Amino acid sequence: MSSSNQTILLQEISKLKTKEEQWEPFGWYRHMRENNPVFYDAEQDVWNVFLYDHVKTVLFDHQLFSNKKVRSLIPIPRKMDNRSNINLVDPPEHRKRRALQSQAFTPRNLKEWEPRIQAIVDELVTDMEGDSTVDIVQKLAIPLPVTVIAELLGVPSKDRDKIKAWSDVLFLPYNKEAYSDIAQEKGRVMKEFQEYLYPIVQEKQKHPADDIISDLTKAELEGELLTVEEVVMSSIGLLGAGNETTTTLISNVFYSLLFDKPGIYQELRADLSLVPNMIEEVLRFRFPATMDRKVAKDTSVFGHEMKEGQAIVAWIGSANRDGAQFAHAEEFDIHRQGNQRHFTFGAGPHFCLGAPLARMEANIALTTFVKRIANIQKVEGFKLTEHLIDSVIGQSLKSFPIRLKKA
Ligand code: HEM
Repeated sequence: MSSSNQTILLQEISKLKTKEEQWEPFGWYRHMRENNPVFYDAEQDVWNVFLYDHVKTVLFDHQLFSNKKVRSLIPIPRKMDNRSNINLVDPPEHRKRRALQSQAFTPRNLKEWEPRIQAIVDELVTDMEGDSTVDIVQKLAIPLPVTVIAELLGVPSKDRDKIKAWSDVLFLPYNKEAYSDIAQEKGRVMKEFQEYLYPIVQEKQKHPADDIISDLTKAELEGELLTVEEVVMSSIGLLGAGNETTTTLISNVFYSLLFDKPGIYQELRADLSLVPNMIEEVLRFRFPATMDRKVAKDTSVFGHEMKEGQAIVAWIGSANRDGAQFAHAEEFDIHRQGNQRHFTFGAGPHFCLGAPLARMEANIALTTFVKRIANIQKVEGFKLTEHLIDSVIGQSLKSFPIRLKKA
């Protein structure tokens, strides 16, 4: 199978063709929840579920829906599928692999990182204070996560542009037109990224420091130390997993402030304790995420005959707007109770390992920004399409200019 037919093409399922439709797929989600909540796409042999309860089952029931998949939404570079990959595996094997990395992301360990994250945010916000208009994606949403994860791993943060560019190629979905080059491009980038990390890992093996790569060089899987190659691949996984997603979250926070609920900026300024719930509401409301699994055995759990080996897509962004779970679900409400039940960080055994880190980064970023900037405004003549990424899949902002009013 070539990498193109191993890839599930979401836009061929949704038929949402334009960037704007991809950015606001919520009307289509509603349509599917109401009319076709368990939908079979015959062309690609893919099941799709849109209701909260169904998405939950797909994410939790690893005996029916496995992560050991052949096809997936993002083409998986072959090298990613190895002993140290914690995502492409099911329990009980998954538990052992995950334990190697989970230590680094416990709330207690993250607490130690808080002052450093605060310092990075302070620097980024100070940098923009002299400007009346800033591109919040380039100035904050991109540099923050990549700097933080580089420092956590123990990789020089001065290399963040390179790291960001590599992880974009490896982890961002591609559109159909780009498929012919995708395997080649991913292969090239993977090689460069590995060559960059090898000497760093070897050095830390000899002289461990207080960082995640050093911890991984000392970690054992079934009584054996990880190989340098395995530590390199785990590091690439972590450098990639937390970058683009956290960038999307921070960018979307600002979009929601200006477009989903204009006026709440002042409410936040008056009461900073609302910030964590604001972040959760953005994760629930404006994050059109999807997860895929392989049907592990024949089942009719959703009332339709699903066959072993077929693929299934859980439309998380739709589950997050399911009115049976969230009252007035289509409304952005920073006072909403229970919005953290969204599935944007997944659920079940693969629940995002970096969720506490992403939440901490977004909370510190927004709190600091709101304290220091008196108000923000839309830029006159803002045209959304000009600021969306070039791919039509997994729409996100590549730039977002906003006007600042200083305190
Ligand atoms: C807003 C930011 C983020 C979002 C929306 C997000 C989303 C997700 C989702 C949906 C999953 C589940 C995958 C599945 O079910 O197969 C996941 C897993 C994972 N995430 Fe995140 N993530 C974010 C940030 C991060 C960060 C900052 C890191 C770490 C640096 C990270 C590391 C991971 C890892 C290692 C896994 C795999 C866990 C496993 O398979 O057991 N994520 N993430």
